[in-house]
Amino acid sequence: MGRIAERVAAIAESATLAVDAKAKALQAAGEDVIGFGAGEPDFPTPAYVVEAAVAACREVRNHRYTPASGLPELREAIAVKTKRDSGFEAPASQVLVTNGGKHAVYASILTIVDEGDEVLLPAPYWTTYPEPIRLAGGVPVVIPTDVTSGFKVTVDQLEAARTPRTKALIFVSPSNPSGAVYSPAQVEEIGRWALEHGIWVITDEIYEHLTYDDNVFASMPTLVPELADTCIVLNGVAKTYAMTGWRVGWMIGPPDVIKAATNLQSHSTSNVSNVAQRAALAAVAGDLTAVAEMRTAFDRRRKAMHEMLSKIEGVECLLPEGAFYAYPSFEGVLQRLGIPDTLTLAAKILDEAKVAVVPGEAFGTPGYFRFSFALGDDDLGAGIQRIAELLA
Ligand SMILES: Cc1ncc(COP(=O)(O)O)c(C=O)c1O
Repeated sequence: MGRIAERVAAIAESATLAVDAKAKALQAAGEDVIGFGAGEPDFPTPAYVVEAAVAACREVRNHRYTPASGLPELREAIAVKTKRDSGFEAPASQVLVTNGGKHAVYASILTIVDEGDEVLLPAPYWTTYPEPIRLAGGVPVVIPTDVTSGFKVTVDQLEAARTPRTKALIFVSPSNPSGAVYSPAQVEEIGRWALEHGIWVITDEIYEHLTYDDNVFASMPTLVPELADTCIVLNGVAKTYAMTGWRVGWMIGPPDVIKAATNLQSHSTSNVSNVAQRAALAAVAGDLTAVAEMRTAFDRRRKAMHEMLSKIEGVECLLPEGAFYAYPSFEGVLQRLGIPDTLTLAAKILDEAKVAVVPGEAFGTPGYFRFSFALGDDDLGAGIQRIAELLA
């Protein structure tokens, strides 16, 4: 009998949080480290949201529990916002407010995945997805994609991976870490395939407002309405309103799923912080001006990052279509310098150039790095310059 239970002992540390923590620790120790690891906007939360939270702190009713499923006004506002932004229509009763989008991932997977169920996971995948699948006793079935397909999985690949045990597909567009955005036609094709085979789709829409050029976000259950009974939509305020620290996300799903996930939540976290829910209410009930401003900055940095990375010999970088990540291949650099893998190269870059990047190993695709462009323009330029000089 081990001290730590097997299922929990098997959980890997979040590589992205680990890289970020290491960079922040070095900075705190006085080192001049530039971090490309964090998946969070460098902007403050909009003032009107902060003010709503300050006011909420002063109201005694917010010193109490809320219903486990969330503040009724917030669930209603999320339903309205979802219809406005993605066209997907679901009543407030089908919204569960969770402790961040990450918790919505966890709750969704625990709610629908049983022992031995297979969950299709296109790679590169967000580093969190496989862990709750395994925790639930499920099996992540990784489907690799690469630069040649723009990191987009095809229906043929999905079909080849499908077995009688396939329960669900995890779908994310715009994608972390690849920055890929599926076209509406691709989203619909995948949705129709899932519907045809009775496969659940957990669709993560947290980057819905961050697309560039002529790339557009499309919501799968909006394009394939019949899928709504076997689809869970995940979202949150973190990326759209620069609210990563507030920890408010949500899942929208069929009534039985939301009921079961609410029961789970009622025995784990009870409810999301009341004050944070009031802040989220101000955010989702407001307009999209703040995210439009951030998007302009991200767009500028995206192009600068793409240009600088592409100049490094051996780097192949696609222009990110959405989110705030570039996902270049460093295979050519590994070969040129005789370095075995990107895990080793990331350590070298941190030690010698004082720059933190997340290696592709964390996302199921070694040979790549994830660079966040949610950091200041000057740091972005200086950080890539340091890498370019180190690898020259
Ligand atoms: C794809 C994706 N989904 C969900 C989340 C969860 O965000 P949060 O838990 O901060 O709301 C993140 C955060 O990095 C993400 O990249």
